[in-house]
Amino acid sequence: MKALVALILLVQLPIHKAVPAAPPAPLGCDDPESEAAAEVAVNYINGHSHHGYKFTLNRIEDIRVVPQGPNNDIIFLELDLLETKCPILSPTPLANCTVRSFAEHAVEGDCDVKLQKVDGTLSVVASKCHSHADSSEDILKVCPDCPVLARMNNTEVLKTVSAALNDYNSKTTDSYLRLLEIGRAKIQYHPAHVVATEFAVGATNCSAEEAKANVGACQLLPEDQSNFGFCTAVMVKGPSQDLQVDCQLYGHQPGVTYIHPGQDTSAGLAPSAVGVTNHNLALVHNNPVASESSSSEILRSMLSAKALTKRAVAEAAQHDKVPRPVGFVPPPPPCPGKIRHFDI
Ligand SMILES: *[C@@H]1O[C@H](CO)[C@@H](O)[C@H](O)[C@H]1NC(C)=O
Ligand SMILES: *[C@@H]1O[C@H](CO)[C@@H](O)[C@H](O)[C@H]1NC(C)=O
Ligand SMILES: *[C@@H]1O[C@H](CO)[C@@H](O)[C@H](O)[C@H]1NC(C)=O
Repeated sequence: MKALVALILLVQLPIHKAVPAAPPAPLGCDDPESEAAAEVAVNYINGHSHHGYKFTLNRIEDIRVVPQGPNNDIIFLELDLLETKCPILSPTPLANCTVRSFAEHAVEGDCDVKLQKVDGTLSVVASKCHSHADSSEDILKVCPDCPVLARMNNTEVLKTVSAALNDYNSKTTDSYLRLLEIGRAKIQYHPAHVVATEFAVGATNCSAEEAKANVGACQLLPEDQSNFGFCTAVMVKGPSQDLQVDCQLYGHQPGVTYIHPGQDTSAGLAPSAVGVTNHNLALVHNNPVASESSSSEILRSMLSAKALTKRAVAEAAQHDKVPRPVGFVPPPPPCPGKIRHFDI
């Protein structure tokens, strides 16, 4: 008998030693720690975007934590974002920016972000995003009369923006404004023919009066005096004619610069978003301050994270075949997380 016990112990001991400590429960997409990481990621993405509008979090799709050492983790996040109404140059904090509604033709952003968390401090190592407008069919299905996004190089859009800016400049006693970029535009044909546009502007070193003499000499104010703003313009072309223009200048914001698409490589956008309906969110950004990483690495890691998630789901499904006691409520799936605004 003693020999048998010894044998069992002998057999069990090495097995017990080989069993690693149970891994910590994987982070769920709606855990506060995941939300904190997503907030850092979204601020980073908006901080490195130079065109269009600020984006806000709609859903955490996936999260994967890869421990590197004590108090040192790499975190991979997959995020769904939605376009807000705040232009990227606007000083309004993201928390105060309203999301563009579904009927206004929403634009979604998809981002893969790699962060590092050292001693509780999060920093973004790299991000990779793209954005796309919801399909027009989706909107027309729920709102057949809603105007949908028009291409920004549409002739009617360009004419409206130019007429609106001329109108504004002809009436202002302040700086002559120049167009920076068109943000979005919509054309409606029924019941009236209406062109609605939104565009970013910058103050020049000319007064409106000086611009009349030689508009070509009017330059955007230098960086240390820059003053950006935003205009909305609605042109009714029929049955009656009307033009409404509203512009707001933000005042000088130290450190805020407008990067002309021609010089901007991080956005990967061809000159002025020709032929598209929405600005693409900065495509790829590697944080030069952070140590390693490339966007292809993020992608590979996200793919393997997905494979892991799939396997976990399959295993959970296997488990569920085991009969559960009555009243058993399975825990919510850790990912994807909740939708904050709406599903598109
Ligand atoms: C943002 O919203 C908060 C709370 O509603 C408000 O107190 C604050 O003044 C707003 N800030 C801006 C810049 O609109
Ligand atoms: C605006 O700046 C340009 C370039 O520096 C200069 O040539 C022009 O005279 C300035 N215009 C006014 C009205 O100061
Ligand atoms: C807008 O751009 C697209 C794509 O480059 C092009 O096919 C189209 O002809 C352009 N439209 C106008 C009105 O210039």
